[in-house]
Amino acid sequence: MKKLLFSIILICTISSLSIGLPQTSQVQDIFIAVGTLNTDLVYKVNRRDGRLYQSYLGHKINNIAGLNQLTDAGHLAYATFGTDNLFEPAIRMIHNDGNPSLELKYVSHNIEKQDANVTITHILLKDPEYPVEVTLNIKSFSAEDVIEQWVEIVQKEPKPLTIYNYASSMLHFDASKYWLTQFNSKWGEEMKIQESELTSGIKIIDSKLGAWTTMYQSPGFFLSLNEKSDENNGELIAGTLAWSGNFQLLFELDEKNSLRVISGINPFASEYTILPGRPFKTPSFIFTFSNHGKGLASRNLHRWALNYGIMDGSKARLSLMNSWATDEKKITNIIDDTKKLGLDMYLLDDGWFGTKYPRDDDASAGLGDWQVNKIKFPNGLGYLIREAGNRGVKLGIWIEPEMVNPKSELYKNHPDWVLKLPNRPEDYFRNQLMLDLSNPKVLEFVYNVVDELVTTNPGIAYIKWDCNRMMTNQYSVYLKDKQSHLYIDYVNGLYSVLDRLHQKYPHLPMMLCASGGGRVDYGALRYFTEFWASDNSEPLSRIYIQWGYSYFFPAISVCNHVTGWGETSLKFKTDVAMMGTMGYGLEVKYMTENELKFSQDAIVTYRRLSDVIWHGDLYRLISPYEEHRAVLMYVNSDKNKAVLFAYTLNSRLFETFNRVRLQGLDPAKTYKIQEINVPVDGAPSGPSESGKSYSGDYLMKIGLNVGSTAPLTSSVFEITE
Ligand code: GLA
Repeated sequence: MKKLLFSIILICTISSLSIGLPQTSQVQDIFIAVGTLNTDLVYKVNRRDGRLYQSYLGHKINNIAGLNQLTDAGHLAYATFGTDNLFEPAIRMIHNDGNPSLELKYVSHNIEKQDANVTITHILLKDPEYPVEVTLNIKSFSAEDVIEQWVEIVQKEPKPLTIYNYASSMLHFDASKYWLTQFNSKWGEEMKIQESELTSGIKIIDSKLGAWTTMYQSPGFFLSLNEKSDENNGELIAGTLAWSGNFQLLFELDEKNSLRVISGINPFASEYTILPGRPFKTPSFIFTFSNHGKGLASRNLHRWALNYGIMDGSKARLSLMNSWATDEKKITNIIDDTKKLGLDMYLLDDGWFGTKYPRDDDASAGLGDWQVNKIKFPNGLGYLIREAGNRGVKLGIWIEPEMVNPKSELYKNHPDWVLKLPNRPEDYFRNQLMLDLSNPKVLEFVYNVVDELVTTNPGIAYIKWDCNRMMTNQYSVYLKDKQSHLYIDYVNGLYSVLDRLHQKYPHLPMMLCASGGGRVDYGALRYFTEFWASDNSEPLSRIYIQWGYSYFFPAISVCNHVTGWGETSLKFKTDVAMMGTMGYGLEVKYMTENELKFSQDAIVTYRRLSDVIWHGDLYRLISPYEEHRAVLMYVNSDKNKAVLFAYTLNSRLFETFNRVRLQGLDPAKTYKIQEINVPVDGAPSGPSESGKSYSGDYLMKIGLNVGSTAPLTSSVFEITE
């Protein structure tokens, strides 16, 4: 039956946007199609019951005829609780009279065309018995094949009303099997990939960490339909929630083998009271459908992120040197190093602040007291900015404004600004507590910390915004009897501060950091140019970490630093760091002359190629999860420049590696292959075709030898038309 339904859908035709098709029966159903270039999401209003159903999600339908024969398969677009839905609801609430049910009927829809590429469809649903309205918003980004969904709930009952579930999106699938790819993390080991077949019942991926998103589970997934997909084959959706707090991705497989995917804020311990007439808006769920595997899904998301999802995605990033803030003299020397290496900026990390309670390590004192420590920096930040400027280098600074150490003036002066239970011991992590970002006074303080830092030190060119703990001590003095609002109000409070700062400093680059990659999501990335992927900069680990992030986030957003972590060669470290926004955490005095020369050359090379890496299309060619190698390449949109990175992670004695077929090139073009990043005193990495020219067709059908079999070696090739 399901197969039959699918083929009926395929022979239906549907124009893009909204259409009402003639019906043979008296009552006409309404079809609302939300299209992108290659995808259709079709809703149907069944006139017999007035409800809104999802009738199709998949590859673009080219033939309209027969759509009116579509049954709705009972897939409610936004399932409620309390009438006849027997499965997980998208929304649940209790009305003023104690009635726990909700029924949503279609009222109207309108289409807002923002420009040639972006369209928002608003579908208004209403309960016939209660003054409750729910608007489903579906924003389609045509060229990127990305759809964003969010929901607004408005109630006009006499008194406040409590909502218990409030999903951003509900999607339905009918396939023979479902394969879920999830990304889990822990500190130092972010974005590990796991794939499993969904079985009947509910699978939940979620976070209850409050202010951290990606540590332990990422709010992103791939759902492959019918069979497992690989990089180039298979039907799937890639979805991710744009929310920097507790999230829930719920997959429910029913007795008919139909799958519901419900995505949104985690309703855990978060019942929310909404006031009459005050809309409750969910965060966005962002997804793309691909019928050509995971590679295409990632490229769709990357293109969307560059154009819409991350701050200044189309612009360049600053290469930087980063170190703990020791003292003026040492930092001035490191600024010298920054210049010597040819980097754009020096980033002063933790340790520069705290007067009464100086910040001398990362777990004792000072968080909250954002005044420069005059013993370490007697001439203030202005001096460092000038010293950097004299060397043609910019200066950036680390802050962690959501936090407080008990040993701080802030804690002593404003104990009621801190999240802590009134009658229980304080639970510390890194010896710190969180500020109460549900409290407007605290938000004002946090805003002023950053604003004053930037205004009193003109010349600060970059902010690293850290958040080094998850939320425990879940109690806000400010919220009084609304403690279950804390998780949601905290994140919305954070966004309100980031939004204000963004209004005032629209192009101030900011790095999103949370003990490494503890908070990486598209809710926050609207305000950030990049994120700190992990505190672990050991390059073998990084290959896996960066590989994981690459499924959802473009290379330009991923900060990779060359540091002292790991025993591999400087070349290996440098090659790994180049696959993103590159920086250094290495002092020049620890480099040999050859290493310094190699690094200086690598930075020049990086400048030349970074546009391809940042803004090009990514092709993952060989996965480190499948072979002893990792190979990937970036290709620019004109297909006249590409960069290929190849890593040998491990090898057995006598193991040989096959040639690697390239992707994304123009078969008709001829490309010159040049190995780059060759160490000053080293030979090329292995038998390769470096220096020769081949057609794109040859490179994509026959391929290249891309490096040696020696463990922990790497090679990088510049591929130029
Ligand atoms: C966290 C961050 C690091 C660094 C330290 C400073 O661990 O992830 O990058 O900034 O804090 O204390």
